[in-house]
Amino acid sequence: MKGVVLAGGLGTRLRPLTSITNKHLLPVYDQPMIFYPLQKLAEAGIKDVMLVTGGNSAGDFLRLLGDGSKFGLNTLNYAYQVNEGGIAEAIGLTKTFVGGDKFVVILGDNILEDSLAEKVAAFKNQENGARILLKKVSNPSDYGVAELEGNRVVSIEEKPERPRSSYAVIGVYMFDSFAFEIIDSLEPSARGELEVTDINNAYLKENKLHADIIDGWWADSGCSIDGLLQAGIMAKSLRREHTV
Ligand code: DAU
Repeated sequence: MKGVVLAGGLGTRLRPLTSITNKHLLPVYDQPMIFYPLQKLAEAGIKDVMLVTGGNSAGDFLRLLGDGSKFGLNTLNYAYQVNEGGIAEAIGLTKTFVGGDKFVVILGDNILEDSLAEKVAAFKNQENGARILLKKVSNPSDYGVAELEGNRVVSIEEKPERPRSSYAVIGVYMFDSFAFEIIDSLEPSARGELEVTDINNAYLKENKLHADIIDGWWADSGCSIDGLLQAGIMAKSLRREHTV
């Protein structure tokens, strides 16, 4: 199982904090944002990781993260995304690294309380296809939203004006290598990006998309300045709980 962390994009919603640096290098409480997803992968036993970034601060990631050994990784590889063509485009850059393996993608601005170990084990046991994680939220229109029938996902919409449920699709995606065939067939969305929601919907069409609901706290720390502040406050309280 390989791991992929995405840290590209322009971070426009966090300006002026991101005017001269990449948002994933900003602090969330006492660590740079990018530490959290790398720690989550390592904690779940995923030790071969590729980080995708872009823009002017790409070199700073190498200086900060090095070979990944301080996170317990075996290898940390880097890919450069030339344009901000979307999450699916960024995932597409990892094709050679992933090869025929299954892989777990984490968006670099997503911070989670729960360990991913159990979900990754369930995905390992899954013959093929994809697995996504859902979290009940009060502001679903800000995210990809899953429509559910019982426990089954029947559709996913990206940032819908009228969401069909309160379940956000969080930024952790487990795919087999079929994802790369899907990505090759995608067209840019109205906002000019290759969308991860379109990858998930393609798996859904094949009846190969599984979903788990997570209980623990989750933050998209890159969604707004207030989201970043909230993520820092939560990270602080979790740190306190785990050190008492
Ligand atoms: O946080 C969960 C949400 O993340 C999902 O519910 C949505 O379905 C998904 O589209 C995404 O929405 P965002 O609007 O929050 O995505 P954002 O543009 O902030 O990008 C998320 C991460 O992906 C961020 O850490 C940067 C990285 N990224 C983004 C783009 C557009 C790249 O590496 N390259 C890119 O071109």
